[in-house]
Amino acid sequence: MSALRLQSVSKRYGGIVALDRVSIDIDGPGIYGLIGPNGAGKTTLFDVIAGAVRPDSGQVIIEGVAVTGQASHQIARLGITRTFQECRILLEESCLDNLRFAAQPKGLLAVLSQTLSRSGAHHRRVRDQALDLLRRVNLHDYADAPAAQLSFGQRRLLEIVCSFIVPSRVMLLDEPAAGVNPALLEVLADFIRSMFREQPRIFLLVEHNMEFVMSLAQDIIVMHQGTVLERGTPKQVQASERVLEAYLG
Ligand SMILES: Nc1ncnc2c1ncn2[C@@H]1O[C@H](COP(=O)(O)OP(=O)(O)OP(=O)(O)O)[C@@H](O)[C@H]1O
Ligand SMILES: [Mg+2]
Repeated sequence: MSALRLQSVSKRYGGIVALDRVSIDIDGPGIYGLIGPNGAGKTTLFDVIAGAVRPDSGQVIIEGVAVTGQASHQIARLGITRTFQECRILLEESCLDNLRFAAQPKGLLAVLSQTLSRSGAHHRRVRDQALDLLRRVNLHDYADAPAAQLSFGQRRLLEIVCSFIVPSRVMLLDEPAAGVNPALLEVLADFIRSMFREQPRIFLLVEHNMEFVMSLAQDIIVMHQGTVLERGTPKQVQASERVLEAYLG
């Protein structure tokens, strides 16, 4: 049984076919790359998996259970976590508070029921975990500083560590390396590798930075015009005529 299965998923926006019968099987833990030219449908695929967008047809199946059409907070509770292409951190809040906010349960009922029962020990645990995550990306000195003080690349790192404060089974990362300078890219790559090593799970990594994604992922899925064009090792994908044509387009 696949851990994550997309079965003939389609999504249109008016006349645009964003996803055209996409089927992908991911068997188990691993770092998987999802690449393709602009407009290929990568973010739409994440939107569908995470429950932000309902597909017109097809199924999203997690560990054998169809979750298609469930609300995003319900899917999040199954351990499907995502980061966004555009930075979504709270700039006025401290780095630590950004992590605390990310650790809060989503959905009104969850917030009401769980906020009441949270103990001091829980808050200390979240703080320790938040500080540990900040340390891993060299941001611990900024724990109490407003996120607005961080450089663009550091903000991106903060956003990414925020998505790791809740336990996950599937981590969807949408262009984590975009706009991140080479020194921080290495920090980011090491962070992703170490989080995978410590808790192997499915990482699906959308990236335009080929060097970055090829160095992290052993299995690369290439999308083009809403379809899966190719899948293989970095070597196989790099040697594919079809992939080259799609990029030269
Ligand atoms: N909310 C929307 N409304 C209308 N069209 C949309 C919407 N979201 C995506 N699209 C269109 O669907 C297609 C796929 O977009 P998507 O954002 O999934 O591509 P992508 O592969 O993530 O591209 P990029 O690499 O530029 O981020 C594009 O033609 C896009 O314009
Ligand atoms: Mg995108």
